[in-house]
Amino acid sequence: MISLQNVTRIYSSGTGEVRALDGVSLELESGSFVTVTGPSGCGKSTLLNLLGGLDHPTSGELRVAGVCLHNAGEAELTNYRRNTLGIVFQFFNLLPAMTLRENVELPLLLRGESSSIAARRVSEMLDLVGMSHRASHFPHQLSGGEMQRTATARALVGRPALLLADEPTGNLDSANASMVCETFTRIASQKIATLIIVTHSEFVASLAPLRLNMLDGKILSQSHSASAS
Ligand SMILES: Nc1ncnc2c1ncn2[C@@H]1O[C@H](COP(=O)(O)OP(=O)(O)OP(=O)(O)O)[C@@H](O)[C@H]1O
Ligand SMILES: [Mg+2]
Repeated sequence: MISLQNVTRIYSSGTGEVRALDGVSLELESGSFVTVTGPSGCGKSTLLNLLGGLDHPTSGELRVAGVCLHNAGEAELTNYRRNTLGIVFQFFNLLPAMTLRENVELPLLLRGESSSIAARRVSEMLDLVGMSHRASHFPHQLSGGEMQRTATARALVGRPALLLADEPTGNLDSANASMVCETFTRIASQKIATLIIVTHSEFVASLAPLRLNMLDGKILSQSHSASAS
């Protein structure tokens, strides 16, 4: 499903070069649940941006769901982002003037899905994240955890093979974070998508069967947990 071979991303600036990723190799099967940890600046978001087709590696090879992201053109990357990928952000990024149902429906409408299929998919996703009872509410009426669960429903509504989340609980108190974690654990256990979560939280990191620990642009260690999800 995911294959990285010797992936390096160097940022050049006036003051020199930053090796944000430094020769990362990784193989993940479809349906994997992985958390990525490491100190600020170690390359976690850089890794997610590459997996999300938002950035190109400086060198190395990167394949996700059969797409060679290291040499894909803009049209192929757009297609990849639209059809294969869901992303959850730290600050939710819900549209404030739209209800939850409309927020979750939007990616399907942009794709030209029929309204009857869209309505069914939206209901399924709101059920999955436990937000059906608030479908007609607006984002400002929700807690942070509820907003993040809704954002997760929106990320999954197009049935992506890969769901990426960068610090999804970074802006939440522990009660809201644990509700969001329950949602992610459910997604992982039902193998709805391959799930990769970047986190500074030890609790979130411990939820996944596979943890990647990064330092200075490298994967320092991979640890497997038998007890996690
Ligand atoms: N667009 C950019 N231009 C130059 N340097 C960058 C750019 N983006 C990231 N970097 C540098 O690359 C390194 C890795 O950054 P990255 O954002 O991947 O870290 P991170 O692990 O996500 O950190 P954090 O936990 O703070 O989010 C850092 O040294 C950062 O300053
Ligand atoms: Mg980051």
